[in-house]
Amino acid sequence: MNIGEKFLELTKYHHLSESDQSKELPCPPLETPQAGEAIVLPDPASLTTGAVSVVEAINKRRSRRKFSSRPISLEELSWLLWATQGVQKPGDIRTVRTVPSAGGRHPFDTYLAIANVSGLKPGLYRYLALSHQLVLIREDKDIDEIIAAICLNQQWIEGAAVTFIWVAVPYRSAWRYSERAWRYLWLDAGHVCQNLYLACEAIDAGCCAVNAYDDDALNQYLDLDGKSRFAIYLAPAGHK
Ligand SMILES: Cc1cc2nc3c(=O)[nH]c(=O)nc-3n(C[C@H](O)[C@H](O)[C@H](O)COP(=O)(O)O)c2cc1C
Repeated sequence: MNIGEKFLELTKYHHLSESDQSKELPCPPLETPQAGEAIVLPDPASLTTGAVSVVEAINKRRSRRKFSSRPISLEELSWLLWATQGVQKPGDIRTVRTVPSAGGRHPFDTYLAIANVSGLKPGLYRYLALSHQLVLIREDKDIDEIIAAICLNQQWIEGAAVTFIWVAVPYRSAWRYSERAWRYLWLDAGHVCQNLYLACEAIDAGCCAVNAYDDDALNQYLDLDGKSRFAIYLAPAGHK
């Protein structure tokens, strides 16, 4: 069996270990805590420009790699974050959000490499979905070049206003689904990125999914151990 076949085999139900949830172990946090000063984001419902129909957004959706120098506004960023991870109903062991996730576990933390967002200094940020806030992790004026280099020198990424970086937290799902959770991480991430594609089209912006990157370099840049948390998917975005 190759590694892919082994993965499929070992994540079949008859191989699964008993989950920590069924052993009545405590539910892990629904969001990784992040120290730093919170930046309150505008209410996503306040965005009035650029609404398009779902039909139009689906029809227009393309992977876009050329961006204008027009910054993404804070309102627009708020909309894109809400569309990708926004919490509509909080809960103790599950949240209801704008995207589906197995068991409502939403095993992601959203990081943002911000280069050109009005009112925000270039740098690395975290989105706190439960409170719809941003936290600046560190300023970095070269962040666009660094992310492009980590993504195997995909130069076009340097033109993005903001790169969404989704970080997987496997135990958040594995607590409920044990080994089966590993299948869900990538499925759940796909839904998140698809919503970003559609939400971008609604504001005359675009994005492109990226999975070609140096895992170790990106995890190191984000200060992740690569096991309990690791970068799973990226999407640079900006105005067309
Ligand atoms: C899982 C995944 C990984 C991708 N990784 C990259 C990437 O690293 N770089 C890139 O330029 N495009 C990447 N893409 C974008 C695809 O090349 C693109 O979706 C495809 O060419 C179809 O074009 P369309 O999205 O405009 O329909 C990726 C897409 C997916 C779904």
